[in-house]
Amino acid sequence: MSEHSANPSTATAASGRPRAVKAVIPAAGLATRFLPATKAVPKELLPVVDRPVLQYIVEEAAQAGIDDVLLITGRGKTSMVDHFDRRPDLEERLEKKPELLAAVRRSEELAAIYTVRQPEQLGLGHAVGYAESHVGDAPFAVLLGDEFVKQSEPLLPAMLELQARTGGVVLAFFEVDPAETKRYGIASVEPAEAELTDIGEIVKVTGMVEKPKPEDAPSNLAVLGRYVLPSRIFDAIRRTEPGSGGEIQLTDAMELLRKEGVPVHAIVYRGTRYDTGMPLGYLQTVVQIAAEREDLGSEFRKWLAEFVNSDAAGGSGT
Ligand code: UTP
Repeated sequence: MSEHSANPSTATAASGRPRAVKAVIPAAGLATRFLPATKAVPKELLPVVDRPVLQYIVEEAAQAGIDDVLLITGRGKTSMVDHFDRRPDLEERLEKKPELLAAVRRSEELAAIYTVRQPEQLGLGHAVGYAESHVGDAPFAVLLGDEFVKQSEPLLPAMLELQARTGGVVLAFFEVDPAETKRYGIASVEPAEAELTDIGEIVKVTGMVEKPKPEDAPSNLAVLGRYVLPSRIFDAIRRTEPGSGGEIQLTDAMELLRKEGVPVHAIVYRGTRYDTGMPLGYLQTVVQIAAEREDLGSEFRKWLAEFVNSDAAGGSGT
């Protein structure tokens, strides 16, 4: 149970409203941008140095006080759950290797992991809909399974606080190069109410456009894969028709709530975000995290600098 929690499904913020204490990780998608690697291995299990992407995400939730995590899985994805299972046979073998043993145990102790299956991949909104019976009547966080933020620059705690104050939908944005807007969901915003600005750089969301051309983009604020949602979202998902790509989109369900008067705010995140959903972002993530590791960072950085300047990397050579 979360340390913030007085009962299993909610904790109360200063506003008197319940604070989200459960997280949902939708991870049932087909991961087409990472084929053929993801034919048999879920993208959430691709390793970043020595831990799968999914562990960084569960760590991000745990660091924010969330220790109840629902994984939405699909066909061929059950191995994700195994990563968080106990392995007494392995632990026994590692008795004389305390550091490895601690690393194995850590993945088992981060959070209570639950799963539900999305039988057909009909979109992110459709996937989140499967969390209803686990989440119940309380607000909850959604963390996409291929994106995470730097541990020392957390985002989720401020999002949880903001949601507990507004009771509405809370998103996170990051700034993109205006020429790149067609790769992202882009928001139109206005200044937030003054009483919310102590939490961080907060904006009020007035609309969202999927992948607009630069000339049509209302801003350069792109949607990051973190949401804190009120339980009313489930009803909105049920009322959402298939949208872009024939999928039931979470964005459309949130837009339905916004039009019905539910407040929608976002935090503008200025920390480091890692996007592992496609090969280039994944490679950048591995290099950044490896370079910062205490145990192997200095050796890796030295090798990387030499490699970048070598003929093998097409560099200038030294
Ligand atoms: P993406 O748009 O990244 O889709 O989904 P994807 O299938 O993971 O990857 P690409 O675009 O084909 O390469 C955003 C998140 O929503 C989940 C995905 O697992 C991902 O975490 N999702 C998407 C589902 O759980 N179910 C769906 O039906 C669709």
